[in-house]
Formats: sequence, C-alpha cells, structure tokens
Amino acid sequence: MRHTVRVELGRRSYDVTIGAGVQSEVVSLLGQPGSVLVVSDANVAPLYAEQLMERFASAGWNARLAIQPAGEVAKSLREIEKLYDALIDMKADRQTIVVAVGGGVVGDAAGFAAASYARGLPFVQVPTTLLAAVDSSVGGKVGVNHPAAKNIIGAFHQPRAVFIDTDTLATLPSREFSAGMAEVVKYGMILDAEFFDWMERSIAGVMERIPDQVAHIIERSCQLKAHVVERDEYETTGLRAVLNFGHTFGHAYEALSNYGTLLHGEAVSIGMVDAALLARELGRIPEEVVSRLEALLKACHLPTKLPAEMSLDAKQVIETMRLDKKSVAGKLRFILPTKIGHVESVRDVPEELVKKILARHG
Ligand SMILES: NC(=O)c1ccc[n+]([C@@H]2O[C@H](COP(=O)([O-])OP(=O)(O)OC[C@H]3O[C@@H](n4cnc5c(N)ncnc54)[C@H](O)[C@@H]3O)[C@@H](O)[C@H]2O)c1
Ligand SMILES: [Zn+2]
Repeated sequence: MRHTVRVELGRRSYDVTIGAGVQSEVVSLLGQPGSVLVVSDANVAPLYAEQLMERFASAGWNARLAIQPAGEVAKSLREIEKLYDALIDMKADRQTIVVAVGGGVVGDAAGFAAASYARGLPFVQVPTTLLAAVDSSVGGKVGVNHPAAKNIIGAFHQPRAVFIDTDTLATLPSREFSAGMAEVVKYGMILDAEFFDWMERSIAGVMERIPDQVAHIIERSCQLKAHVVERDEYETTGLRAVLNFGHTFGHAYEALSNYGTLLHGEAVSIGMVDAALLARELGRIPEEVVSRLEALLKACHLPTKLPAEMSLDAKQVIETMRLDKKSVAGKLRFILPTKIGHVESVRDVPEELVKKILARHG
C-alpha cells in the first residue's frame, strides 16, 4: 500500500510517499543517474543508508556516503563543514542531490548543507524516525544549532521529495517512537478532532506498530502539516504558529534539562498538558479536554508531568519562555486549545497564571 501526500507550494511542490519498502524505490524515482551525497548518522547508516548508497552506485550514480555522529552534536557548523568537504571532494555541482537518511537531526543538518552549498542543491528526505516522518521532514525548515541557541542558524529549503519507508520504524527504540507520537497527538489537538477520536480508539494498535495504523497516522500528520505549511510557508502570517502548541512550555523544559533528560517529544507532551491546564484556568476549555489529552498521551507511554529529578524554578522557566523566539516583545504568548481540534494564539497571559500551572511540577 502506497500513500502520497502532495505539498502544494507552486514551483517548490513535492510529494511525500509513504509505505512499506518505499526505500527500495528511491533510486529509480529520482530518475537519470547523476551524483548524490547520502547523509546519515552512525546508528542509521549500517541499518539503511549503506544499502541505499549501494543501490545508487549500482544504478550508475556517482554516490558518496557521509556519516555524522548520532545525536544533536551533528547539528553544528563544524559537522556541516565536513559535509561541504565531501561535496567539494566529489566535485558536486548544482545537480548533485543531497539525500538525508535518518532522524530529524540528519534531516536538519543535511538540509542545511544542501540549502547553503552553491546557493542550494536539490534535497531529498528519507526520514527514519517517527518524529522526522510526521514533522521535520515536511515543511522545509533546515538548520543547525549555535552553542547558545537551538536551531538559530538555518534556512527554508523545501525537499524535492520525501520517502517514508514505514519498515524502517521497526528498529526505532520505543522511547523514540513515543516521542514522535507527541507530535501526532498534537496534530489531532490543534487541527483534527476526528483524527484525535480515531487515535483514542486505535492507540493500542498504533503503539504495537501495526503497519497500516502507523501508515495512517503518518499520512494524516503529513497532510495536516502540509496544509499548514502551504498557507504559511515562511512563518509570516502566524498560521504556522499553531504547530507550536505545547512547545512554549516544552522548549523551556528542554532548555532546563540542557537537552539531556527529556527528548523533544517528551517535553512537548508535558508542555501540551500544561497548555491545556492553562486554557482550562482561563475558562477556555472544560476539564474533559485536559483529561482526554492526558489519557491519550499516557497511552502513548509519554510523560505528562516533569520527572521528579528535574527541579523546576518557575522564574527561570518564565524567563526562558520570554526568550523563546516565538514570544513577541517579551510578552507571554501561548497556543491554547478552545476544544479538541482547534487552537488559538493567546497574547498577554498573566504571569501569575503561568506560575500556578508550573506549581504542579513541585
Ligand atoms: N525542521 C523541522 O521542522 C523540525 C521539526 C521538529 C524537530 N526538528 C529537529 O529534529 C531533531 C530531532 O529529531 P529526531 O527526534 O528524529 O532525533 P534524531 O535524529 O536524533 O534520532 C533519534 C535517535 O534515533 C536513531 N535512529 C534514527 N532512526 C532510527 C531507526 N530507524 N532505527 C534505529 N535508530 C534510529 C538516531 O540515530 C538517534 O540516535 C531535533 O534536532 C529537532 O530540532 C526539526
Ligand atoms: Zn516539536
């Protein structure tokens, strides 16, 4: 079974192809042989990228494999420079395709190298984590970190194509799978009540990674993300901001844990519950919305509260929130639900109320 999601962005439009075994078709779907730099990380390369590289080579491509260290360290200018070295070495020209095979880290880093080398090389995403499949591989945001700020050096560079091979998720550690589910639950909460209902009914099968069910959540998530990106490609109209539901709290927790204790999706899971509690405090939603969200996140084996070992300083969290690039002129702004399937941007949330919510983390 193949599912295709079209991302309509005029000349930058592309297809997201989802299905079991899609990876084996990447080479033929990219057309006439040329040159290609396959970028992966130390975990994913032996599982999938080496194989893909060999497929390119045997189809007559001038193919190279660059293996980055696994983890966030790969999103640094130092590691990007190594990708530039590889491109120079293989005498890359503007037709050379950069193919990212891995999670969001590899996609962001390889995409940034593709965006900047020779003012832009064609870029293809082959995401192998659930988070990358449902979020980072679609939408064109690429970039690396500065030691002082995450994702601050980057570009908008849409891929030419995205290939999501659901078979590759079989090797993904459970904790990473759950972290990806946080973004999936987010799409239901912000845009699609029916999808949320479906997940409530089908979550057991999804967590068992039943292929059809996993393909369904990926397809629906990609459709919803594509829809948002189509209407606000460069994050200028404010529409794309709905994707930040749970992220204002979440980013602050990630920063607080020095990007160590919590995975991004875990921080977002806790942050979505905080945002829902804040919305309830403001009288925007009934308790039932909070409890349904919490129950679904728990069924995804996600945390809904900060771990006890993470001590929280409310003042520090609020300061971090003010620095968040999504806050405008230091005011506290949150994406808050009005019901399941809909959110709004709410400005000027009283600091006292935010403190009250943070107090639940003890
Ligand atoms: N560009 C965007 O729009 C966007 C959106 C969300 C997140 N991000 C970025 O994505 C990054 C996080 O991505 P991630 O959660 O995919 O993390 P990741 O890329 O670090 O992957 C998580 C871990 O799983 C391993 N792995 C990947 N695929 C595997 C597989 N199939 N089998 C076994 N192991 C596998 C990786 O080696 C890594 O150790 C962050 O840097 C974040 O900033 C970007
Ligand atoms: Zn996120």
